[in-house]
Amino acid sequence: MMRLYIETVGCQMNVLDSELVVASLKRQGYELARAADQADTILFNTCSVRQHAEDKVYSALGKLKRTKQDFPDKIVGVLGCMAQKDQQRVFDRAPYVDLVVGPGQLHRVPELIEEARRGAGRQLAVSLGRREGAVEAVRRSHESFDPLRDPEMRPTPFQAYLRIQVGCDKFCAYCVVPMTRGPEQGRHPDAIVAEARTLADQGCLEIVLLGQTVNSYRYGTGPATVRLAHLLERLHAIDGIRRLKFVTGFPKDMTRELLEAVRDLPKVSPYLHVPLQSGSDPVLERMKRGYTVDDYRSMMERIRDTLPDAAVSSDFIVGFCGETEDDFERTKECVRAFRFKNSFIFKYSERSGTKAAERFPDDVPDGIKQRRNNELLEIQNAISEEDNVRLLGRTFDVLVEGPSKTARKKGEEGPDIQMTGRTHCDRIVVFDGETRQAGRILPITIYDASAHTLFGILDIPDPTPQVYSLLQGRSRGDEERCG
Ligand code: SAH
Ligand code: SF4
Ligand code: F3S
Repeated sequence: MMRLYIETVGCQMNVLDSELVVASLKRQGYELARAADQADTILFNTCSVRQHAEDKVYSALGKLKRTKQDFPDKIVGVLGCMAQKDQQRVFDRAPYVDLVVGPGQLHRVPELIEEARRGAGRQLAVSLGRREGAVEAVRRSHESFDPLRDPEMRPTPFQAYLRIQVGCDKFCAYCVVPMTRGPEQGRHPDAIVAEARTLADQGCLEIVLLGQTVNSYRYGTGPATVRLAHLLERLHAIDGIRRLKFVTGFPKDMTRELLEAVRDLPKVSPYLHVPLQSGSDPVLERMKRGYTVDDYRSMMERIRDTLPDAAVSSDFIVGFCGETEDDFERTKECVRAFRFKNSFIFKYSERSGTKAAERFPDDVPDGIKQRRNNELLEIQNAISEEDNVRLLGRTFDVLVEGPSKTARKKGEEGPDIQMTGRTHCDRIVVFDGETRQAGRILPITIYDASAHTLFGILDIPDPTPQVYSLLQGRSRGDEERCG
């Protein structure tokens, strides 16, 4: 039996890609190892979005040099966005790497490992660059492979990611993703629905639809074009699925039609992740985001009109080229005004090959980026906490994911341990419960809150299995839809 260890960094796309790679290798007889030193195949699924993500992988690879000297038969592979971006340079920096495989070529991993093991030397499989061929050829080289799924790799057994779109065509000036993931392509809706059915049959209650700009999803042309709203309707009809989420949204494509679908389809979470990136028009312009702060404000109004209780979250880049103190003040104002559920804040990291790297110097010193990052985070945290405190005393349906990190660290099991789950709006809730509650949607009443966590108690302290099933089937009013 071959043993495989895989380490994943980056976004949910990568988590899903790792699931698919593991599924394809298990078919070849591999099993998962808990640590790199117990494995004969070690894979890194990598991210290039910021320098830090790349440094982490190169440093982990550095540590494997000795291992490869001592155990030359071990196979080391670099997969994902950094493989696509750096290609041959991965071998130059870490000559003992056996395979480098871009995200559009992952279906070839089993075959490439075989080749390397047979002594055929280094294996490089990457997709075409955006200008390296005819449009169709570039597209095809980035198509991801058939959905072989592996439940063991999921966030939990009842939650799964489902890709509905690959690539990105927005070309934000700072971003490598359009290069590493190739052209935007919507998957065939029938394939998506079929995969969702399989997931539902496997016991998935929650499906998170993935795309870099998931709400730009389209399939087909003309009046027959299928959009995300139509897709949500079809997925909503699948028995067994209880919750549907989609990430990441692009502000300009958050249409009224889509928001109305979210409103009218109760399984669709009233949770929208739509990054603003900056609160200053000149910065947005240099970033080539294609909208102004006013456009974003109109989108927020659309959201509040249609879905008054929706939770909206955002991403921000601080210290982008030429960002002044005044630009940053505007970003702060937006964070205060829009009251996001949470924001992911990143220091700008220059990426070679992007428009920003070509056109603008990375001129904000790291110390200033760090300060702006801290300041923005502090404002966001205060808002998150204030809004969470408003939820005290309310009862929400929580999809219980399992023991919380603290409980897991202590190796606890059984009754009265801290369990964690999420509301329909994606808020994290912890409560004292028991392991067998994982995978159930239970009513939890909130008694305390911090910026990132709601603390609750189960509505009924120790319900019998019969009561559980009653609770699960209970239809709840509008008030509990969100939280
Ligand atoms: N497709 C998604 C996510 C892209 S990457 C979207 O468009 O929202 C996730 C986040 O990383 C981005 O939203 C952005 O905030 C951040 N990011 C992307 N490139 C970056 C860079 N060069 N430096 C710092 N942060 C970056
Ligand atoms: Fe990158 Fe912009 Fe595409 Fe998001 S929308 S992946 S930030 S280019
Ligand atoms: Fe990173 Fe690639 Fe995702 S660059 S953020 S792993 S699409």
